[in-house]
Amino acid sequence: MAIKINTATFNGMDGVKISVEVDISQGLPSFSIVGLADTSIKESKDRVRAAIINSGFEFPIKKITVNLAPADVRKIGSSFDLPIAVGILLATGQINEEGIDNYLFAGELSLLGELKKVSGILTIVMGGFDNGIKNFVIPYENKAEASIVSNANTYPLKNLIEVIGFLKYKDLLPYSKEKIQLKEEVYLDFKDVVGQESTKRAIEVAAAGNHNIFLYGSPGCGKTLLASRIPSILPPLTYEEALEVTKIYSISREYKMLEGLIYKRPFRKPHHSCTKISLIGGGIKLHPGEISLAHHGVLYLDEMLEFNKNNLEVLRQPLEDRKIILSRSSGTVEYPASIMLVGSSNPCKCGYYGHEVKTCTCTEYERRQYQGKLSGPLLDRIDLFSAVPSVPFDKLKGTEGEQSKIIKERVIKAREIQNERFKNEDIFSNGEMNENHVRKYCKLEKEAEKTLIKLYEIHNLSMRAYSRVLKVALTLADLSNNEKIKKEHVIEAVQYRKFINNKVI
Ligand SMILES: Nc1ncnc2c1ncn2[C@@H]1O[C@H](COP(=O)(O)OP(=O)(O)OP(=O)(O)O)[C@@H](O)[C@H]1O
Ligand SMILES: [Mg+2]
Repeated sequence: MAIKINTATFNGMDGVKISVEVDISQGLPSFSIVGLADTSIKESKDRVRAAIINSGFEFPIKKITVNLAPADVRKIGSSFDLPIAVGILLATGQINEEGIDNYLFAGELSLLGELKKVSGILTIVMGGFDNGIKNFVIPYENKAEASIVSNANTYPLKNLIEVIGFLKYKDLLPYSKEKIQLKEEVYLDFKDVVGQESTKRAIEVAAAGNHNIFLYGSPGCGKTLLASRIPSILPPLTYEEALEVTKIYSISREYKMLEGLIYKRPFRKPHHSCTKISLIGGGIKLHPGEISLAHHGVLYLDEMLEFNKNNLEVLRQPLEDRKIILSRSSGTVEYPASIMLVGSSNPCKCGYYGHEVKTCTCTEYERRQYQGKLSGPLLDRIDLFSAVPSVPFDKLKGTEGEQSKIIKERVIKAREIQNERFKNEDIFSNGEMNENHVRKYCKLEKEAEKTLIKLYEIHNLSMRAYSRVLKVALTLADLSNNEKIKKEHVIEAVQYRKFINNKVI
């Protein structure tokens, strides 16, 4: 007789319900798994067999066929071990099947029958819950993550014997979530940065409007120091944002044990030698890349001009669309990628172009080639440029700078204005506006309009630069709580278009 057990898998960010059908018939002893299962699932045969025997049950010496339905959904990972084992024990009558359809099983088995944690459990439970399943038997170590789905009854168990005991006696209450104490996050603070007021201001504007920003300056001037303090002034995640971020981390390659929802805005800092796949995602298992792991947070590319040019170019499309679609022979998935891009770099190969004292030893050709890595379309996606000067020696012992928490308050206020402004749109911040939004929301005072026309002509701005200036000017207006953009906002916003070569672009 064939038995059906519920489980689920994930395809991109979506949970998909899967039925594990187990059929045991007379014939030459064999054990086969069919239904678009990848190699990690084929390996589960050996684990399941050993786990069943080592837990004191009998493994049938018959013809065992396991079908994972629907067959057209790609299935990966080791979470199918538990449903397959339960299916075999049911099909051989070692446990009874009463009410088994109300449960979803997921978990990896060790050879000794212990239940091991699996990745993507949040997505798996959500996938089952959306399909009407209320009860979930999962590995003990996944309990915090699974219990994020608050209406689901989760039963975190430690081994196969516990699972079977539970199915027999139904003697456990569902896991009730402990009240998770939100930890006070400790961030690097802007107060440690001496001087650099103009760059701090640019960073504050970028954080307030979710704008992409690029910092440039000579070695040791404090670019990395400044950029790594950005998380300390970002507003906390909303519940919806936190759920999306947690789902991405739950299915990602660097999956760790999640302690419930992630409320901290991600800050990702990939090394410049990273591959295209680690940056945008993909690989055999179509894992999310850094750009998705930074979703709703910051992707910081330190030494941005040292990145492979092709790797930088692939960021263009996701920066525009705020999501990335990965297509491989193994399937197509879509991951969100709404990020604030922060780049920093030396202005040239030797690092001293434009330095107050030292002279640059690069040739004009070398300089152009170096800066050329950031050419055209990618530059167009950066709203603010900020030169980081080196701090004069006499200032190094200066007083403490402004504390991050004070800057953060201003950022949060500006974001609240934006949340209100875009409540009927599908965006949240000024940085995400498209041309239509710019036309609709960027209202200028008369004086400001005149100034903008003048500056547009003086600097020969492109149309793209023009709308970037308007977006940043709107954030500046939000920061000073003005409804309309004023003249000083336009002037400041144009200042942020000054690129390494001192040209306003
Ligand atoms: N404004 C500043 N206030 C306090 N410390 C500073 C400041 N600027 C630089 N420093 C000190 O100098 C060190 C080097 O700074 P940082 O690593 O940020 O430089 P960088 O601009 O990233 O250099 P590189 O181009 O070589 O990567 C910091 O660790 C810090 O101790
Ligand atoms: Mg640095």
